[in-house]
Amino acid sequence: MIRMRRLRANEAIRSLVRENHVNKDDLVYPVFIIEGENIKNPVDSMPGIFQWSIDRFDEELDRIVAAGIRSILLFGIPAKKDETGSEAYNENGVMQRAIRHIKKKAPDLLLIADVCLCEYTSHGHCGLVHDHEILNDETLVLLAKMSVSLAKAGADVIAPSDMMDGRVEYIRNALDENGFQNTLLMAYSAKFASGYYSPFRDAAHSAPSFGDRRTYQMDPANGREAIRECENDIAEGADIIMVKPALAYLDVVKEVTYYTNYPIAVYNVSGEYSMVKAAAEKGWIDEKRIVMENMIAMKRAGAKIIITYHALDVAKWLEE
Ligand code: PBG
Ligand code: ZN
Repeated sequence: MIRMRRLRANEAIRSLVRENHVNKDDLVYPVFIIEGENIKNPVDSMPGIFQWSIDRFDEELDRIVAAGIRSILLFGIPAKKDETGSEAYNENGVMQRAIRHIKKKAPDLLLIADVCLCEYTSHGHCGLVHDHEILNDETLVLLAKMSVSLAKAGADVIAPSDMMDGRVEYIRNALDENGFQNTLLMAYSAKFASGYYSPFRDAAHSAPSFGDRRTYQMDPANGREAIRECENDIAEGADIIMVKPALAYLDVVKEVTYYTNYPIAVYNVSGEYSMVKAAAEKGWIDEKRIVMENMIAMKRAGAKIIITYHALDVAKWLEE
């Protein structure tokens, strides 16, 4: 008989044959910075997650640094929204000021700036709108402007999440032309039109006021097309590619590992977080156990980088 159980007999042998590990170094923690003063707003649908004004953010920054998290993903929530999302590329916009502030306080923290217009536009779409259509090429100009202004403020990584065609190349060229050859690009490459983003849209005030995002984000039914998205972003100059959401799309992550040797990130999105939190609050699941199982599942599928709202908890649990 082949006895598989010999390899499971005790923790020493189990740890010797364990194939995957989660490290603090794998984690990226998303944070929401809101315009205004003295704000620490809990996001109702995401227990433990807050909108922070810049002047209050040091409290969270201390927690992040103390936990040993080395990378954060920044989202900005401006006070004013308009048709063209002008606060997104305002030199004194909330993101630009937040980046300058955090760089000064924590120079070694890797700052990843999300680039998209939906938090900044009055209609809540990720691109410019004309007659209820989301314009592609006209949007690229604004995304590039936003990217350069965030790089100028001190962002280490630019992360376009808009899903317009050609944006990686367009942004890469704009960064290079402005002297930011060393600014990294992490592309949301296979980003699906997902119901799992709805808590985020409360957190970032970015729900579209009409229609949905299905003309630019991917159809959840398509795995092969996800490879084409990654292929394009790599050809256009992305340094890191991403699959998003994570848990319902681990087959896509695995496929992408066969296709490329570029670093792969997954985004364990808001809805995935909220579902775990809600069930844990009800006492229906063991939160730590479920979260760590989700983390190892993402590693096993082939992701190196895990963007997750659980990052601070995971960092703490890894110490125990
Ligand atoms: C903005 C953006 C979204 C997320 C990241 N960047 C929302 C969306 O596309 O609707 C989702 C993150 C999450 O759900 O945690 N384009
Ligand atoms: Zn968007």
